[in-house]
Amino acid sequence: MAKPPLSMKPTGWFQVAWCDEIGVGDVHRMKYFSQDMVAWRAASGRLTVMNAYCEHLGAHLGYGGRVVGEVLQCPFHGWQWSQQGRNVCIPYQDRPNRGRRIRTYPVIERNESVYIWHDVDGRQPFFDAPDVFASFDEGSAADYHPQQRLYRPGLELHPQYVLENGVDFAHFRYVHRTPIVPVFTRHDFAAPVSYVDFTITFEGDDGQQIEDVNSGVQAVNGGLGVAVTKSWGMVDNRTISAITPVDGSTSDVRFMVYIGRTTGKDAARAELRAREFGREVIRQFEQDIEIWAHQRYSDRPALTPDELAGFTAIRTWATQFYPDGRGSSAVEVSAASLERP
Ligand code: FES
Ligand SMILES: [Fe+2]
Repeated sequence: MAKPPLSMKPTGWFQVAWCDEIGVGDVHRMKYFSQDMVAWRAASGRLTVMNAYCEHLGAHLGYGGRVVGEVLQCPFHGWQWSQQGRNVCIPYQDRPNRGRRIRTYPVIERNESVYIWHDVDGRQPFFDAPDVFASFDEGSAADYHPQQRLYRPGLELHPQYVLENGVDFAHFRYVHRTPIVPVFTRHDFAAPVSYVDFTITFEGDDGQQIEDVNSGVQAVNGGLGVAVTKSWGMVDNRTISAITPVDGSTSDVRFMVYIGRTTGKDAARAELRAREFGREVIRQFEQDIEIWAHQRYSDRPALTPDELAGFTAIRTWATQFYPDGRGSSAVEVSAASLERP
């Protein structure tokens, strides 16, 4: 893959694990944003995500580190670190080292996922991660079958590719084989949390008019890392897509689907049907992945007039999440060509 001309250290909420991967007392190793990290769950259930290396002599806390009540104890010399990354005990010294601190990340557990707030400058969160239920006007987890998941680690793609899908009306016909091209009814990129709604159908032939289509998707993008969707007028489903940079060229992709419960008698059959529908939604997402994983970010894309507005809006919006405040030259070029009469 051509290295994307976009920073792999964007600001925002990013998924680093699923909650059920880290039980009480567990120390979970991971690497994101080119940093080795650990996530550990204290006796109280509280989860901490911090950089992996002990500030004493650099042991990796994910190899033999032990949760002791509410602190994490280093395997090398037993120094203990708090949930704020502070040293609270040196077992062979009468006082801790108050100066050294391990970098911790703001963390939330939502919709069964662990999200961390990443910002290269250490700024505090300035928007909230979307919630696959609460971000929409109705529905809760109880209305849906259990979550189904896709996990594709280490793919050569950038989170922005995935979000650009949300304004890319033309790909639906070719990648997802929709009979007609969807029509966008909302593009709201005014704030770090943005909204995209479109009318779409997966049924019928290409003879239908978009005005007659009675189904669609609403998407809420919380920055570049996490997006949630709600569908209407078709098989009731919710999805979460979460793309997290691992290093300078790869990202972990996670995708979650919930299928709505129906009021049938046969629970076992309903569960089976839900699994099938869920797999189908995941399969659709995998069709996108196949493109994204081999795509070269087009910096100065060749856009049609119809595509220009959506791509310009999303690329301009995306710049706020990059350390250099620039997405790519495509933003300026598109803006310039928009101004032309
Ligand atoms: S390296 Fe962690 S206590 Fe010494
Ligand atoms: Fe897609």
